[in-house]
Amino acid sequence: MIHVLCRGVFLSQHAKPPGVKPAPPTTLVIFGAMGDLTRRLLMPALINMTRLGLVGEDFHVLGVGIDEGDDQVLRDALGNFDAKGGEGAGEKGDAWARLKNRVGYLQGDFTQDAVYDQLKSRISGNVAFYFAVPARFFGDIVDKLADHGLMKEARHAFRRIAIEKPFGHDLASARDLNARILDKVAEDQVYRIDHFLGKETVQNIMTARFANMMIERVWNADCIAHVQITAAETVDVGTRGKFYDGTGALRDMVPNHLFQLLAMVAMEPPASFDAEAIRNEKGKVLKAVRVYSSGQAKRNGVRGAYTAGKVQGHDVPDYTATADVAPDSHTETYVALKLMVDTWRWAGVPFYLRTGKAMTCRDTEIVVTFKPVPFASFHKTAAEMLPPNRLIIQIQPDEGLSMDINIKRPGLEVATAPIALDFRYADAFDIGHLTGYESLIYDLFAGDQTLFQRADAIEAGWAAVQPFLDLWAADGKPEPYEAGTLGPAAADALLAHDGHRWHELAPAGQTVP
Ligand code: BG6
Repeated sequence: MIHVLCRGVFLSQHAKPPGVKPAPPTTLVIFGAMGDLTRRLLMPALINMTRLGLVGEDFHVLGVGIDEGDDQVLRDALGNFDAKGGEGAGEKGDAWARLKNRVGYLQGDFTQDAVYDQLKSRISGNVAFYFAVPARFFGDIVDKLADHGLMKEARHAFRRIAIEKPFGHDLASARDLNARILDKVAEDQVYRIDHFLGKETVQNIMTARFANMMIERVWNADCIAHVQITAAETVDVGTRGKFYDGTGALRDMVPNHLFQLLAMVAMEPPASFDAEAIRNEKGKVLKAVRVYSSGQAKRNGVRGAYTAGKVQGHDVPDYTATADVAPDSHTETYVALKLMVDTWRWAGVPFYLRTGKAMTCRDTEIVVTFKPVPFASFHKTAAEMLPPNRLIIQIQPDEGLSMDINIKRPGLEVATAPIALDFRYADAFDIGHLTGYESLIYDLFAGDQTLFQRADAIEAGWAAVQPFLDLWAADGKPEPYEAGTLGPAAADALLAHDGHRWHELAPAGQTVP
């Protein structure tokens, strides 16, 4: 699997990764070819892959969409990125020039059989079907693909599906969707995408843990006091009201993105780096997240919705004044949870998760706070000044890792001072210009499911958040927080109750002391 073998090189913007073979010849059929996801993320990723030699001249794209048009219309629609310029634009232009003649378009309604009959005559060999369409169509598309014989694999021809989130909107619907899909295709044909797993720093969590004795040996309830996982966003709901008001922060971010981070932090070491070994461990730990009673959910969850305010100088309207959002909406734009992972390793260690829109700054991070040392040996030091060790995994922006430790302050007295050992990816590697989808798509073609979610893990994630969904559907409203702040006061109280505080968020380019 390429992520493990040559990650640092793979990230290079300009070099072809040595030793990495192009993916097998594949046709990528994209349902929703004219949509936002295809234009913003998939095509730029495919162009990067062409440029880096991760796909060869035998790679083809066939876009399916409802809009009138032919191959040229899709090529024109997707080629606009050239105008953006920026670093690597010339090379991107070259790659697009090479790829575009292998991009085709099939106009039609993918809820109707006719499209699938036409698809049959346009594809052969290895095919990956990518569902860049609203979630309500996922089940229908799988049924139709299978019923038209398009998912049947031959000895040298795979058939795979790549499904974007949201995968279900609660536990019951996720189970139904899994059952419906697995009724028609095998689990090893299903690639459930969580784009957080394409992020370099997310993949690095496993390396940081399992390639470093000094980390893994203290990675347990004996040494760790609590873990915080934050995905704070400055963006507000903006034009996504229709999707967001029926979804909310909990469904949008927690059972998927934040739980992927939690699983990486909390999983047991896999016996190997095989996809199934890793997915087994991730599945196990997600199943160990305590499923709360309604009363426990009430004590351990906080939700908020932003009110009008300023985010980094820009006016943001009240959430309920957003287009396509109900004026009396009870949908949350912020959520904070205290979760417990019921394994021997994590017994008694709270995992605090928070995510929200229209917050002070954009910051996705994991903060692992260690237990305090016994203070006796530092009797000449003000004990309360000796902060606990912390490991901060900065997922984005300013990708990196830092460790807070205490050292002796220079001088005759034995006095301590906290310092941070800091590593920024940007100082050592070229990390900036890939979309994160490159490695996911490469693995989809290569048949490596490590970075994709298995049915049981998806369902375990939903099971853990279901008590909050049930409680909040039945009870009250989110607490208000002003746009441009750190969320509702109740989220601070959630930690204060345990004697903790949220890690202060760092605006890009700054380090929090
Ligand atoms: C998406 C959510 O899955 O992830 C968005 O639907 C969210 O609401 C986004 O903004 C965050 O992803 P990233 O990569 O920008 O942190």
